[in-house]
Amino acid sequence: MDQTTSINLRRLRQSRAVRELVQEYRVSVEQMIQPLFVVEGITSQQMIPGLTGTFRDTPETVLKTIEKDIEAGVRKFILFGVPVEKGENQLSPAFTSYQIEEIRKQFGNDIFIAVDVCLCSSTTHGQCGVLSPEKDHVDNSATVQELANFALSYAQAGADCLAPSDMMDGRVAAIRKVLKDSQLNHKLIMSYSAKFHSRFYGPFRLAADSAPKGDLKLKDRATYQIDSASPKDAYLSSLRDLEEGADILMVKPGLPYLDVLSRLSSQIQKPWAVYQVSGEYAAIELLAQQGLMNGPAAHVEVWTAFIRAGASIIITYGARFARNYLRSME
Ligand code: PBG
Repeated sequence: MDQTTSINLRRLRQSRAVRELVQEYRVSVEQMIQPLFVVEGITSQQMIPGLTGTFRDTPETVLKTIEKDIEAGVRKFILFGVPVEKGENQLSPAFTSYQIEEIRKQFGNDIFIAVDVCLCSSTTHGQCGVLSPEKDHVDNSATVQELANFALSYAQAGADCLAPSDMMDGRVAAIRKVLKDSQLNHKLIMSYSAKFHSRFYGPFRLAADSAPKGDLKLKDRATYQIDSASPKDAYLSSLRDLEEGADILMVKPGLPYLDVLSRLSSQIQKPWAVYQVSGEYAAIELLAQQGLMNGPAAHVEVWTAFIRAGASIIITYGARFARNYLRSME
């Protein structure tokens, strides 16, 4: 070693054994949640462009997917139900609720099931709520009512955790209230509290059939999701969800909002989840497919960044590969 420097930092980097001993953060599959898509009206599993190893499952294949995931060490899931029938209001949670019941029947309490609560996969126009009569904005209170109804139905069907991703005002309070009124107050609420208006949701919207569509004045989700240049909004939105009864808060997307995760998780002492969303996941996959990056190592690097920034929960399409990826790092 070079004897000319007095401060030697490389001593602690010299071997895997030493590096392992001095590591401050470790990623594990136990802290990960695997997203699942279950789609009505398809007859076989479909691939999702960009999301290697993630599928649009049928009600039958989703059970096999979960079985395989359990073998890979994954026991926590977030379910996205995609019904065939779309509408504008008085939407039905029946398809997703039935899937929750079937999954629960098959796997009992071996697995933890969170369910995404939103209307975008159920509406004809792909917006996350019920539109105003003029169809120029999403009506907050009409939407919150439907969301609470969805959440209650999912909870009754056996979900452990309700995860509202719509970004309406007051949805957490409304969900907490219906749970309380139905003796289901032990159910968790994991709120997408700091959900930004992002371009990184692209592959997901294909998978969940949820992109804004049709001839509406409303072309995007900017009037309800948080602007990327307004982190104070994310703070206030998270504080509100906490006060309204959320148990777990979330930053989404992850990597482009790492500063927000770091700040919020030190300001608000609650468990923080981070969602490595479809676009950020696919970016790594596509670079790896081009031979420009070691995909597994890049995922582990990003997951480590999430933990470093204060997340205790990582929602990622790679949960089912994590054990292998982490082992291959050893
Ligand atoms: C539903 C919802 C979205 C995601 C999770 N729940 C899409 C959106 O808001 O447009 C994104 C997840 C991902 O991109 O992986 N509102």
